[in-house]
Amino acid sequence: MSHPVVEERPVAHGDAMNVVRQAIAEAPGPEAAVQRAVEELHERFPHYDWVGIYWVDANRTDLVLGPWIGPEATEHTRIPIGTGICGAAAASGQTQLVDDVNADPRYLACFASTRSEIVVPILAEGLVVGEIDIDATDPAAFDETDRIFLEEIAALLAPLRPRP
Ligand code: SME
Repeated sequence: MSHPVVEERPVAHGDAMNVVRQAIAEAPGPEAAVQRAVEELHERFPHYDWVGIYWVDANRTDLVLGPWIGPEATEHTRIPIGTGICGAAAASGQTQLVDDVNADPRYLACFASTRSEIVVPILAEGLVVGEIDIDATDPAAFDETDRIFLEEIAALLAPLRPRP
């Protein structure tokens, strides 16, 4: 008996991991590499409706929006660490997986269409240096496979962070 849903998703994630690695390796510099990674994530997973990278600023007080791809721009281009789901991920260093954003009092609304969100910290030398933020229009769109996959992607992005 086959379980197509369970078996197909890790294959898709594994394939995407190779594509993202390759895109990063071929990019002319770190900024272009992060942009390419965001593009591949957005393109390969239909439930990754809005994909953005936030970087921790030099004062380590705020998250500042870097490359993003999605149907709309967000007004939240700077988020204090500790505010919103993004700020919670940065403050704790822990991935935040929110099945229903409307039930989470921390949620900072960006898009009326968003129903679920995952925020994955990017860690370097024991510090949060940024994060991957993905919004989905379906409730509970993200699972543990996404978490593990995106934590690996975050490790690839860490060396590409902007340096002062
Ligand atoms: N929803 C996020 C804010 C960023 S937007 O989703 C792009 C939050 O609650 O922190």
